[in-house]
Amino acid sequence: MPIKFPFTKNKKQPVPQTVGLDYNQLPEHVAIIMDGNGRWAKNRGMPRIAGHKEGMNVVKKIVSHASGIGVKVLTLYAFSTENWKRPKNEVEFLMKLPVDFLNTYLPELIEKNVQVRTIGDFDVLPPHTQKAVDEAIERTKHNDGLILNFALNYGSRFEMVNAVKQIAAKVEDGELTSCDITEDLFSSQLYTSDLIEPDLLIRTSGEQRLSNFLLWQLAYAEFWFTEVYWPDFDESHFEKALYDYQNRKRRYGGV
Ligand code: FPP
Repeated sequence: MPIKFPFTKNKKQPVPQTVGLDYNQLPEHVAIIMDGNGRWAKNRGMPRIAGHKEGMNVVKKIVSHASGIGVKVLTLYAFSTENWKRPKNEVEFLMKLPVDFLNTYLPELIEKNVQVRTIGDFDVLPPHTQKAVDEAIERTKHNDGLILNFALNYGSRFEMVNAVKQIAAKVEDGELTSCDITEDLFSSQLYTSDLIEPDLLIRTSGEQRLSNFLLWQLAYAEFWFTEVYWPDFDESHFEKALYDYQNRKRRYGGV
C-alpha cells in the first residue's frame, strides 16, 4: 500500500498519510505491546537499555501521531509484573524511562491536550517513578484529547485476581450476592473500568502472544503483528495497522 510522506497539515511535524485510511473510522482504543527493544540493540552491538531509550523516542512519535489523527485511547505496555525478573540495571533503567519521558515531553503532552493515566500496581514502583507519573496525571487530568494510558507494573492475571477479591469482599459483607456478579460488574473492578475496550492490539518484533496483557479487555479486539522491532516502528507502520484494522470485519460472535 503506498504511503505518502510528508503530509503537510502540520508543518512542524510532517505526518504520513496512508492512502485508503479513513481518518473518520479509526479504532477508538489502540493497545500496543512494544517489543523488540533488546534485539534491536543487540543487532547494533549496543546494550539492551539503548533499545529501551530508542523505544522511548518512538513512544513520543506514536503518541504525537495518534493524538494528531484523533485516536481516543492509546494503552502502552511499558512494564509488566514479570519484568522485575530482568537484570537490576535494566529494571532501574526502565523505571527511569517514564521520568525521562515526562521531563522532556510533558509540556508537549499538555499542549496536545493529552491526558496521562496508568494501569497496574502503581504503589510498588520506585518513588521517583511514582512522583513523575503522578505529576503528569495531575497536570493533564482536565485534558480531553488522547488518553495516554501507560501499563506500568501491569499484569492481567493479577488485575483479575484483585477484581475477584474485591467482589468476594462485597459478597462477604452482604453488599452483593453471587447473582449480582455479571460481566459488567467484573469489568467495573478492573483498572480499565472507565475506559472503552481496545479495538486493536498491535505487537511488534514478530512475537505473537499476549504476555499477560489485557486478557479480559482484548476479548473482541483485532490483533495486528509485525516483524518490525519497536525502535524501528514509525507512523507509517502505525497507520498500516489502522488501515488493516479498517479492512477487517468485526462480528463479535455474530454472522
Ligand atoms: C520489550 O522489549 C520492551 C519492554 C519491556 C519495555 C518497553 C518500554 C519502552 C518501549 C519505553 C517506554 C517508554 C516510556 C515513556 C515508559 P524487550 O526488551 O523484551 O525486547 P527483546 O524481546 O528484543 O529482548
